[in-house]
Amino acid sequence: MPSQLYNDEEITMTDTQIGSHINAEAPRSKAQAHDAFPKADTSPDIALIQARNFNFFYGKQQALFDISLDIPERKVTAFIGPSGCGKSTILRSINRMNDLIEGVSHGGDITIGGTSIYDPQLEVIGLRRRVGMVFQKSNPFPKSIYENVVYGLRVAGENRKARLDEVVEQSLKSSALWDEVKDRLQESALALSGGQMQRLCIARAIANEPDVLLMDEPCSALDPIATAKIEELIYQLKRDFTIVIVTHNMQQAARVSDKTAFFYLGKLIEFNNTKAMFISPTKKQTEDYITGRFG
Ligand SMILES: Nc1ncnc2c1ncn2[C@@H]1O[C@H](COP(=O)(O)OP(=O)(O)O)[C@@H](O)[C@H]1O
Ligand SMILES: [Mg+2]
Repeated sequence: MPSQLYNDEEITMTDTQIGSHINAEAPRSKAQAHDAFPKADTSPDIALIQARNFNFFYGKQQALFDISLDIPERKVTAFIGPSGCGKSTILRSINRMNDLIEGVSHGGDITIGGTSIYDPQLEVIGLRRRVGMVFQKSNPFPKSIYENVVYGLRVAGENRKARLDEVVEQSLKSSALWDEVKDRLQESALALSGGQMQRLCIARAIANEPDVLLMDEPCSALDPIATAKIEELIYQLKRDFTIVIVTHNMQQAARVSDKTAFFYLGKLIEFNNTKAMFISPTKKQTEDYITGRFG
């Protein structure tokens, strides 16, 4: 895990692992730039999302067992573990996407900012706006680039052109796509490359001004260059968002995340700072997995 040093105008990475960063967005103003820039990664963790004794069932089949973990604000947390261990299930529990599946149930709780997301009073649409999601296979709508970005706003009733234009520009800049598409915003999103489509899906999520971005293997369908771009983007985005990323790529977890959670057979085996976990895992199962002995 590289250490990062921040100053006002640029991000300096002392480790070349991540590669050159994209200068995606000029700071809007000095004051805002100060706000937008996070503490360095050594800053204390402030838990935003907390799972407490969380159990999850598909019908009678239990997929998650007694998961308790704290996901820190404005950092990147990676979920790793072999296929079928429950990474997507726990990720989808954070914005209640699992609600859409028939016959599911849960025990325990997940809170965001101290509020239970399973509170019967809670409005699920609002939760999903606050907790955006990006999937393995990018899923732009068969609409223009512009309309993809403003989709959530339009659904929420926003139709003022100046406001929509502003959100499109901001979101596409934040997702490092603006320069590539600014002259063809009215063209179909489906004409973009795979990596561009994934960044468009990130822009679409960002346009709703979420607090949290959930990403389920967002690079697994991309080539190495497009993957590197998304990784650099994730690195930029944690200035403003709390990010949780599922990845089966160990190197990716090591490159992009501050914290790593290792799951095995529906259980959280180990959760630690990424560097600590990769250098000296405390559990044998974690060590076997990260050294490629199984999975
Ligand atoms: N929609 C579903 N219906 C029934 N079982 C499911 C469903 N989705 C996942 N599962 C089961 O839950 C377990 C965890 O799956 P998943 O969360 O997708 O794991 P991962 O993302 O780590 O590969 C697996 O045993 C899987 O078969
Ligand atoms: Mg999965």
